[in-house]
Amino acid sequence: MRHFISISACAYEELRYLLDVSRRLKKQHKDTGRNEPLLVGKTLALIFEKPSLRTRVSFTVAMNHLGGSAMMLRDEEVGLDKREPAKDVARVLSGMCDGIMARTFAHAKVIELAKYATVPVINGLTDFSHPCQAMADLMTIEEHFGTLKGRTLAFIGDANNVARSLATACGRFGLRFILATPSAYRLPADDVDRIMAQVPELDFVMTQDPLEAVREADAVYTDTWVSMGQEAEKAQRLMDFQGFAVDERLMAAAPRHAIVLHCLPAYRGYEISDGVIESPNSMVFAQAENRLHFQKGLLAVLMAGSRVI
Ligand code: CP
Ligand code: NVA
Repeated sequence: MRHFISISACAYEELRYLLDVSRRLKKQHKDTGRNEPLLVGKTLALIFEKPSLRTRVSFTVAMNHLGGSAMMLRDEEVGLDKREPAKDVARVLSGMCDGIMARTFAHAKVIELAKYATVPVINGLTDFSHPCQAMADLMTIEEHFGTLKGRTLAFIGDANNVARSLATACGRFGLRFILATPSAYRLPADDVDRIMAQVPELDFVMTQDPLEAVREADAVYTDTWVSMGQEAEKAQRLMDFQGFAVDERLMAAAPRHAIVLHCLPAYRGYEISDGVIESPNSMVFAQAENRLHFQKGLLAVLMAGSRVI
């Protein structure tokens, strides 16, 4: 594994190893307060074309814990494909840094960075996918239930970047993935075909009925109806997604043991109610914390080579 751009590019064994290393580093940190100095002297460049709380903080703290450092580069300054070509940025950063994490609008920019970089490139969210989020989410589900295989994840709302990465992650780890969207926002057929070609083993159900979707769910997941970059569509989307909120009415149709997940930031009163996000079944803050622990495992595997515990 040289880069981490998509879950589908990784074999099950590689993804399993990432979760195992992340879990070990988390346990060591929780039990002893100490961290493995696996990345002493190494620097990770963070490029953001979009805002962030969790991704920025988790990568920065992860590098600190592992003995290295992270450098925040706002795209207003870097100007990927504006001030200079992404392929030049990739080679300049490769000469000075040990890894690049990029959050971009166009997925093609992260691919271009990876094509030209000689250091690992990590996808920190694009319009197309959010693989680090999906892996932290599986880590959270596994911690809670003890297993992944055979579990059911119901994603309610927009068939967006997070949903796409979760679909592939569920396929790799043997979870059933149920996607409930309004019909005008369902996953396009070419996306479905691509996902099924990448993870033919995925048990993938698509529906327009959120109540039906959660009936057998172990985890009920939602995300904003208006992703970064879709602000101009906000008024229309808020109307179109009526009936798709993860609220008390929807959770009453889910099994009592079902946990609630949200990648955050959450818009209470829209895709999720305040009562549900604050309920005992909500795991959203454990899920957010796992962004740090998964990032540590990922950075250790990608950047520390054979010294990973
Ligand atoms: N979930 C997530 O990626 O959060 P940020 O946009 O705050 O990084
Ligand atoms: N789908 C959301 C995820 C934010 C972490 C977005 O792209 O804005």
